[in-house]
Amino acid sequence: MKLSVIGCGYLGAVHAAAMASIGHEVVGIDVDQHKVDALASGRAPFFEPGLEELLVAGLASGNLRFSTDVEEARGAAVHFVGVGTPQRRDGSAADLTFVHAAIEDLLSIVGDGEIIAGKSTVPVGTAAELADCVSGTGAVLVWNPEFLREGWAVADTISPDRIVVGVPSADGQSTPEGERAADVLRHVYHTATAKDTPFIVTDLATAELVKVAANAFLATKISFINAMAEIAEVTGADVTTLADAIGHDNRIGRRFLGAGIGFGGGCLPKDIRAFAARAEELGRSESVAFLREIDEINLRRRDRAVQLVVEALGGSVFEKNVTVLGAAFKPHSDDIRDSPALDVATRLHGLGANITITDPAAIENARRVSPQLRYVHDRDDALRSADLVIVVTEWDEYRRQLDPVYAASLVAGKVIVDGRNCLNAEAWRAAGFTYYGMGRP
Ligand code: UDX
Repeated sequence: MKLSVIGCGYLGAVHAAAMASIGHEVVGIDVDQHKVDALASGRAPFFEPGLEELLVAGLASGNLRFSTDVEEARGAAVHFVGVGTPQRRDGSAADLTFVHAAIEDLLSIVGDGEIIAGKSTVPVGTAAELADCVSGTGAVLVWNPEFLREGWAVADTISPDRIVVGVPSADGQSTPEGERAADVLRHVYHTATAKDTPFIVTDLATAELVKVAANAFLATKISFINAMAEIAEVTGADVTTLADAIGHDNRIGRRFLGAGIGFGGGCLPKDIRAFAARAEELGRSESVAFLREIDEINLRRRDRAVQLVVEALGGSVFEKNVTVLGAAFKPHSDDIRDSPALDVATRLHGLGANITITDPAAIENARRVSPQLRYVHDRDDALRSADLVIVVTEWDEYRRQLDPVYAASLVAGKVIVDGRNCLNAEAWRAAGFTYYGMGRP
């Protein structure tokens, strides 16, 4: 099928390349000429494992191309909209400027019977408004939220857990054109539907809500265990053992019970804030009032990490050499948007510590927003002469591949703060380190 993808950021670029890899003819459209040039020459403009291979293969097969001109999208059976919905500068709601611009552009080229499939994360009610703008063009607007995780975006796109399609409905029933659009999307995702991936057809509002509810739930799970970490800290309990123990209950599950410096990135923080802002507009702020608490617990964990470092260094970090392992908001990503890791590093710098920071992928992005820090590419160089080491992003390079005995031979002071509870505390202690975890004795 001929498809277009409007917006070639983390979501759109991966979607375009993945759709080409399963046999579709895809054009990716973005307003950023640099991004389009990079993608068109087979280079991913951001770090995402497996993406470059897909780009190169797609371009070589002729199935994939990129352009800044929306005219190139003319005639596609489905136009996916994957532009960003960042947090507004003047508040916590989502900024829909890019979504409106994308729809506006599409209105000039979209044809009868074509489908506009929104993938961006939007406040509930947005799709219905956009459907009104589209009516009269002969095209149908559906909402098809994306659940991909950075670092696993390619696999999550090609083999998702579930596919959700919100279609126009009347009196609780999908309209005939909605049903037809859902069938077209079944065909688009043929590799997943052939494997019986759950394919949920619903109304527009439910589809929009599925996405924000999923992210709200994940954020809540993380803040729940971080709240338990706070209690563990004043009682001498170990939150890691606690998470293991409650995680054995199938109803709870161990995933996303990793206590530490909390969640960040381009999705969870802004999505829970936008959800709370939307609920307020709907007169239901009390329904998701807990999300503000979730946000606050999350941000408190960064304070706690800073406090641990200060305590571990005897009450002041001033002119102490602190090595920060990690800058990205999570491993397998170069994304530093709302990164707890970089936040902790810059706060310690603000307290007068000499920060040396390293990361396998995110140094260039981090340097752009926090140029005051000292960046070192080589992990071992970064460790040399550290008075204290803090792990803030659980890359394998630090979690698995850093031998504590070897690390002991590099540092000046054997003090380690495990901001992600990802290290083997016993092994670090055995190598002579004083070990501090988050919510662990
Ligand atoms: C998230 C959702 O998982 C994804 O479905 C959605 O489409 C976009 O938002 P992503 O932002 O890529 O994906 O990251 P995710 O893997 O969910 O991690 C988010 C943050 O939570 C990271 O900062 C991570 O370090 C943190 N986290 C995760 C924890 O602190 N503890 C955990 O146990 C798990």
